[in-house]
Amino acid sequence: MESKEPPLCYCTGTTAAKILTLIEQGKNSLEEIINATGVTTGCGGCDYEVAKWVEQELNKKERVIYSLEL
Ligand code: FES
Repeated sequence: MESKEPPLCYCTGTTAAKILTLIEQGKNSLEEIINATGVTTGCGGCDYEVAKWVEQELNKKERVIYSLEL
């Protein structure tokens, strides 16, 4: 079944789920996400939302890794 999730970046069609998968696979910065998906490189209209959202998800990942190391 095809996902009906609206993309975070309409120019590239990149969804939050796609970015989460990339983060789970080891992407650790906004730059890596941009290089892998092209988000923010079209009209630029998603810059703020994508940057804010990716930073939030990377911080969550860091907290999980930190708590696992304790
Ligand atoms: S909506 Fe992401 S670059 Fe245009």
